[in-house]
Amino acid sequence: VLTFRLRAPGAPVTLVRIACVAVLASAIPLAGPVGVAGASSVDPALALEVEHAVTRILAIEGDPDYGAYLGGECVTCHQKSGHAGGVPPISGLPVDYTVGALVAYKLGARTNDVMKLMTARLGDEEIAALAVYIAGMGTE
Ligand code: HEC
Repeated sequence: VLTFRLRAPGAPVTLVRIACVAVLASAIPLAGPVGVAGASSVDPALALEVEHAVTRILAIEGDPDYGAYLGGECVTCHQKSGHAGGVPPISGLPVDYTVGALVAYKLGARTNDVMKLMTARLGDEEIAALAVYIAGMGTE
């Protein structure tokens, strides 16, 4: 552990030390097993959190009609076939893959600002429904 002797006039020593730890922590890449599809390096605790959420959501029977309703917004970016301006196609992705990806974006194990925003307000029911809908989507 590195100790910095920062002398910020008036700043309590403990505050300075906490700031240093925060900076150090953010500079160290999180190492760990890659248990999340598409994630580069994920903190093991986060990977476990993702795994638990995925297991929980896969136990829910997704409603494809609800998924189609929610998914209308998704296909404005995700075209039914092919890449559209850097946006990957999602039609026909397996349910477990989609659930894994959406949970990873939501919890921050996959980092993408757009998809983080898109998944932030999705609950378990919504993710289950979207995954079933996407799996059944044709590519035509
Ligand atoms: C504003 C554009 C946009 C919208 C709307 C959008 N996405 Fe995405 N999505 C992206 C982009 C860009 C990526 C690639 C992100 C990356 O690099 O990880 C992505 C990635 C994904 C992936 C991972 C694909 C893979 O091959 O791993 C899934 C699944 C997905 N989106 C599902 C959805 C769902 C479901 C919705 C609707 C709730 C949605 N997206 C809405 C832009 C969008």
